[in-house]
Amino acid sequence: MKIGILTSGGDCPGLNAVIRAIVLKGTRAYDLEFVGIRDGWRGVVDGDFFPLTRHDVKGLSKVGGTILGTSRTNPYEGERGGAENIAKTLYGHKIDGIIAIGGEGTLAAADRLAKDGINVIGVPKTIDNDLRATDYSFGFDTAVNIATDAMDRLRTTGDSHRRCMVAEVMGRHVGWIALHAGMAAGAHVICIPEVPMSIEEIADLVTSAHDRGRAPLVVVSEGFKLRDMEEAYSDKGLDAFNRPRLGGIGDLLAPEIERITGIETRATILGHIQRGGAPSAFDRVLATRLGMHAADAIMDAAWGQMVAMQGTEIVRVPFADALGELNTVPQVRYDAAATLFG
Ligand code: F6P
Repeated sequence: MKIGILTSGGDCPGLNAVIRAIVLKGTRAYDLEFVGIRDGWRGVVDGDFFPLTRHDVKGLSKVGGTILGTSRTNPYEGERGGAENIAKTLYGHKIDGIIAIGGEGTLAAADRLAKDGINVIGVPKTIDNDLRATDYSFGFDTAVNIATDAMDRLRTTGDSHRRCMVAEVMGRHVGWIALHAGMAAGAHVICIPEVPMSIEEIADLVTSAHDRGRAPLVVVSEGFKLRDMEEAYSDKGLDAFNRPRLGGIGDLLAPEIERITGIETRATILGHIQRGGAPSAFDRVLATRLGMHAADAIMDAAWGQMVAMQGTEIVRVPFADALGELNTVPQVRYDAAATLFG
């Protein structure tokens, strides 16, 4: 069998480790042939394929980014898009199936294509950890480590100047990165999309930390909403799936905190640094296990399913299990962190 592999959506540390694991297990154990698909669904639509051998994936588990390239192309858009055209393109290149490595948008497209008769198996990825049906997605641990390191650094400069430091992290509409990195760094306030707060509540916690002689650290998730905001802050337009591009709430909060508390306040937006560089050891192992299971899934013709981590096991679930609702931070996890605020 000849299988195409694609990475789609935002990149994430661990993508290359998945690609390596699929190709190594698939060629060694099952004698499968692989092609790389360039730039996500764009490459499927355009028939942009290239041979992917064991030689091409050597040493890749520690390398950030994706050797395949990625895009946020929707496979149902454009003249050559749609399941019928894609089936013809795959048939023309003698490709029997696709392994799609991606987040919510990618897996939703994979689900629709699978229902339209295309052989697709999914591998979930996202630094946001917002997908249901998998307890953790690779990329998340690395992002948390990067954000924690950044906050440790912000604290030493904050301490020196007795300033309040606001650190904005990614995560889209869920607060996992903020919660974990904030807890790891000992933040005085963690603002997540699941729990709106007023600026006065945030300012009170900042003042309380400051009054104890601490330089307050506020972690804010890009999707956080103040109580009077209807939507998360966005001034960068929409992505290819018509979702608002988030980012910038930290810059909004910092002057307000300074105005109310009188404490000099600075904001840092960590942005894409959280997605760059080498994956953590945890993410390399998770990505490798998911990739090897995806190769097994091909042999079982488990089309229309994705591999996932549940507990400590790797399992297969229908795409639909991961879609629809987001994997949000449970209130109990937030409440536990909040007992240490201020
Ligand atoms: O989904 C991963 C993510 O990094 C989000 O946390 C963030 O909102 C978004 O992607 C940024 O997307 P882009 O790289 O297209 O700006």
